[in-house]
Amino acid sequence: MTDPDRRPRVVLGVGGGIAAYKACEVLRRLTESGHDVRVVPTEAALRFVGAATFEALSGNPVHTEVFADVSEVPHVRIGRSADLVLVVPATADLLAKAAHGLADDLLTNTLLTARCPVLMTPAMHTEMWEHPATRDNVATLRHRGVVVAEPASGRLTGVDTGKGRLADPAEIVDLARLLLGRPGALPRDLEGVRIVVSAGGTREPLDPVRYLGNRSSGKQGYALARTAVQRGALVTLVSAHTVALSEPAGAEVVRVGTAEELRDAMHKAAVGADVIVMAAAVADFRPTDRAEYKIKKTDRDPAPVALTRNPDVLAELVRKRSAGQVIVGFAAETGDSAGDVLEHARAKLKRKGCDLLVVNAVGEGMAFEVEDNAGWLLSADGAERAVALGSKSHMASDIWDAVVALIHS
Ligand code: CTP
Repeated sequence: MTDPDRRPRVVLGVGGGIAAYKACEVLRRLTESGHDVRVVPTEAALRFVGAATFEALSGNPVHTEVFADVSEVPHVRIGRSADLVLVVPATADLLAKAAHGLADDLLTNTLLTARCPVLMTPAMHTEMWEHPATRDNVATLRHRGVVVAEPASGRLTGVDTGKGRLADPAEIVDLARLLLGRPGALPRDLEGVRIVVSAGGTREPLDPVRYLGNRSSGKQGYALARTAVQRGALVTLVSAHTVALSEPAGAEVVRVGTAEELRDAMHKAAVGADVIVMAAAVADFRPTDRAEYKIKKTDRDPAPVALTRNPDVLAELVRKRSAGQVIVGFAAETGDSAGDVLEHARAKLKRKGCDLLVVNAVGEGMAFEVEDNAGWLLSADGAERAVALGSKSHMASDIWDAVVALIHS
């Protein structure tokens, strides 16, 4: 029986690409969050980062070959005892070797003996990522259940930019932790599905320096976008203001400020979308007047701020929905004398007319600005299900499971 207090065991395979230096950041984040990490670099990886760095950061010895410590049969033991094998960066060569079952060093042997989830995070030049050989290898690996993450677009080595940049280390660690908690969390069941997610909080300006805003961090919307991309979806993320978050690799990000900008972006992105998720905290009101210059203080009391209602974007999207489009809303509720959280949420689901309502209880230390989330998923057909406290990526996985069921129903 496994010991529940045992630290999760991660094998961090490091491929020989310039992004190998980012594996150090992934390693640091994993060890700091209580994971026991064993680094298995390829020979080529050690030309980019020295073994001493991996040993110091992991607290474990580092070998590349099956011939070190032969009596311990490391090529079998390391893979068998892992809870997750994570490869950062997965080069075109490593993907090819893994797809074809080659085993010429400790990492490729480990990939063959591992029976735990395997997450490979590619990094290479765009031409290599798009080459039919790589496409076939990625398809083979995914077909076998390996999670091959989508790379990001952006600056590559040298002067090049394009798709093939390693996903952000924070994002890689988030996906790794999701798979450790829930090994089947990233199936390719949203392949080709066009999804629009809104995230963050809108800001309604009073003057050039002040605004009315809210405490939304954007983390839940970003977790939704990130996990949808990795399940195969084509994702547009309409992002209002958030705390500092890494952009989900593979998603198209549209930045907005005010509720009206968010509304325009959502209506545009909704055309042709299969699924729309309104996770953004949209301000219900905006200052009626926006001062052109900074409002100066005077000796008199300031004038009251007149407010104007903002459009209800979710309700508008529901009214304009195309056939078969699945629409998901969020509800942040505190409960009051008129009803508890769920009673308010049931009424909101009816009022908004969406297919699924994600309900969070909010209040001090709940839902906003925190890492974990709990709540309920309410469906238009009356089904209700509680979502246990877990990371926002766990919550996102539950939401996508429910959306997949709706798409098929
Ligand atoms: N929403 C929206 N446009 C608004 C306000 C909210 O699209 N102007 C969306 C949110 O993105 C969320 C859902 O509506 O998906 C519910 O938001 P919430 O603030 O809980 O609901 P309200 O309709 O504002 O209801 P109330 O504040 O009365 O609880």
